[in-house]
Amino acid sequence: MTAAETRTEHRLGPVDRIPVGEGRSYAVGMRQVAVFRLRDGTLRATQASCPHAGGPLADGQLDLSRIVCPLHLRAFSFADGTCSEGGRITVYPVREEDAQIVVEL
Ligand code: FES
Repeated sequence: MTAAETRTEHRLGPVDRIPVGEGRSYAVGMRQVAVFRLRDGTLRATQASCPHAGGPLADGQLDLSRIVCPLHLRAFSFADGTCSEGGRITVYPVREEDAQIVVEL
């Protein structure tokens, strides 16, 4: 069984709770997930805590391809979670459905 087969969908509420160009943190079971609403209207979801020293990724600056941690400015790719300075974050599948955020963990 692959990781994708064991994922569960979670509805996190209205997409418009997240201003365009910003992120918000959500508790999903025992995990904290950061969901970002990009300027092109699409969503991205990652672990909420930076692997470097626990910075709140939902409060970071973002563009269409990466999130920059607000504490020490490490940038993590939305595509695969990698960081050029080392470390990696978990990236979760997320989509908008009926104006709701649906994330798969
Ligand atoms: S805590 Fe995120 S870069 Fe240091």
